[in-house]
Amino acid sequence: MKHKYLDKIKNFESTPKIMKIFSEEEIEMIKELYIILPETVFNKKQNVRKKGWIPNYNKELDKIYFNKIKDVLGDFKMDTLKSDKGEDYYGLFHESFSPLPLHVDSGFVEDEVIYKQVITPLIGPGDTIFFKKRWYGKSTTFTIDKEELSFKPSPGQNDRSCAHLGDKEFDKEIHKKYLSHIDINNLKGMEIEKIYEWKIGESLIVDRTHIHCASSRINNKKLGLTTFTKK
Ligand SMILES: [Fe+2]
Repeated sequence: MKHKYLDKIKNFESTPKIMKIFSEEEIEMIKELYIILPETVFNKKQNVRKKGWIPNYNKELDKIYFNKIKDVLGDFKMDTLKSDKGEDYYGLFHESFSPLPLHVDSGFVEDEVIYKQVITPLIGPGDTIFFKKRWYGKSTTFTIDKEELSFKPSPGQNDRSCAHLGDKEFDKEIHKKYLSHIDINNLKGMEIEKIYEWKIGESLIVDRTHIHCASSRINNKKLGLTTFTKK
């Protein structure tokens, strides 16, 4: 698939922005909510545990979170996933024990206008690495592994592609410092847009069209919250 409303999507694009949106107390409330929510996915292969932020577990916090994001993003709709009852998740908690591969969270519906993702670190250390290259197709994982490339995704699963590749060798120093979990040949032609070193109390606001991945810098585990939005 290819996104249909490309002009609109591109019009809303901007450079990644770091902001302090939530107070220390609110960050603590969000971490407490994470503990009581039921587990949504445990992806053994990626070694990540995910929980959807189901509304109504803490109504006061739901309201605070939505309104504070709205102050920053303007009008938006949630586009994370839906609960069994069809309620929009407010975000996805991801507790990772090993770093996420190169991917893009550009969604699965061609006639939707994808907008920003809001990443709020909860337990570090960790980094999220954004590349300049953007992707206007379906949510995709980028790989040069032949077997991986032949994977046929079910609905709601990422495509596999190597169409991100260019010619230029990737920077060896940056690879060594942040991206040693990724084959350097899978980064050919890629340039860094932003290396976001997680700081608790900050949030990162970034376009959903940017290709990105986690850095290799994980001590045991890290926990973050991501909210995907559309217009
Ligand atoms: Fe992502």
